[in-house]
Amino acid sequence: MTRETWATRAGFILAAVGSAVGLGNIWRFPWITAENGGSAFLAVYLGIVLLVGVPGLLGMFVIGRRAKRNPVGALRSLSGSNRWGFAGGFLIFSSLVLISFYSVVGGWILRYFGESVVGLVTGNVRYFANPGAAFGAASAGLDAVAFHLVFLALAAVIIVAGIRGGIEIATKWMMPAIFTLLVGLGIWASTQSGAAEAYAFYLRFDVSTLQNNFFGLLGPAAGQALFTLSLGVGTMITYASYLDEDRSLPFDGATIAVLNTIVGVLAGLVVFPLLFTLGIEPGQTGTGAGALFVGLAGAFAQLPGGTLVATAFFAVVALAALSSAISILEISVSFLVDEYGLARRRAAGLVGGLVAVTGSVCALEPSVFGFVAGTLVDILLTVGLAVCLVFVGWVMGRDAITEFRNGAGSLGQTIATPWLFGVGVLLPIFLVFTLLTTFGVDGKIGFWPTVVAAVAVAIAAFVSLRSERSVV
Ligand code: PHE
Ligand code: NA
Repeated sequence: MTRETWATRAGFILAAVGSAVGLGNIWRFPWITAENGGSAFLAVYLGIVLLVGVPGLLGMFVIGRRAKRNPVGALRSLSGSNRWGFAGGFLIFSSLVLISFYSVVGGWILRYFGESVVGLVTGNVRYFANPGAAFGAASAGLDAVAFHLVFLALAAVIIVAGIRGGIEIATKWMMPAIFTLLVGLGIWASTQSGAAEAYAFYLRFDVSTLQNNFFGLLGPAAGQALFTLSLGVGTMITYASYLDEDRSLPFDGATIAVLNTIVGVLAGLVVFPLLFTLGIEPGQTGTGAGALFVGLAGAFAQLPGGTLVATAFFAVVALAALSSAISILEISVSFLVDEYGLARRRAAGLVGGLVAVTGSVCALEPSVFGFVAGTLVDILLTVGLAVCLVFVGWVMGRDAITEFRNGAGSLGQTIATPWLFGVGVLLPIFLVFTLLTTFGVDGKIGFWPTVVAAVAVAIAAFVSLRSERSVV
């Protein structure tokens, strides 16, 4: 059977944007920005997206499009060595860890979307009236497990329908819907009384954070850039493996990064005016889950027209989360389809069944959830991307340059060689540096990053020492 491909170029770009635009843009980005100096952080972040995010994205694309295989098959076939398959296996493992917590949050979002619709229809907003207690109930026990399973099932249905018939069609209407709704919400938010104060807070250029803590900002900025651009678990390798034409990868990568950044900035322009209007300190309800499900939910209960706004808002977040979840699950599905010849339906069933269990553990056990979402995922993504970029630089080498240039415009031809040096040498060093500074405690190197990094280095060393590839 021939391997599936995207029907159109826009299909590939929108699917990749669908992967990139997700919870990271809405529940992480505005708060990280606001907490770390506003647009001063934004400037650092944009620099990292340009110098780390986009080149990294292109590294993943080059691997995927060259090999036209899932991450395990890709690293194996491009290196000519079975042992690089272990590095691909590490990516698959990371993607399963990631989706285990991601689909739990996706479940909460679905729950809140459902409650908004109920509020809209019945006029009863009890769920948002007492947000702390409501979130406590929604995020624990069987409630959390049930909605996680519904979310997972939705993602699986789209995956089973295939690349063209499922992922491509779904993301083709989801992305315009997300952009339209967000712009509408942003306009509505701008009419709220707290809007001016919120913009001043969100976009303030706080130079002192740059002066006092420039190096301290690099870690969070890099972590956010990797997460939000879906780097380090093999999603972008997998999606690029379904490309059949040589179109410009640098152009596609830049487009994806720009659209993804716009959504993050827009999300802040929506959430902060709501909070400021009600006098809720953005930091008061914490970041992430607390900010979204407690702070914002409270705002929805009090603002006139809040239920309608809540419905639109949670629709945006649900679509964003779903299109990202699809891209995470597709990694393992493509692995089972390519390597073991499984039918998509069966592969999706197996992966879904596994994540149903691992996600339920995250849903039921807050300490596991906290460790996975707060620490482990960032470490796995950073190590995963570093390993892939070393692969691009040192194993693919000239082939990577050739692949980068295929279909690229004249600028792409020129930057191919500096790009390879950047991704093969500078970025892995930078990534390891951010790993050690971010997760170090009191200036000491953290325990978990050391363990993961040591294991990854040991595997990489083992692999390259025993590599059977004859150098051409
Ligand atoms: N980019 C997604 C988000 O911002 C998360 C993600 C990470 C998706 C890695 C796929 C792979 O929510
Ligand atoms: Na998404």
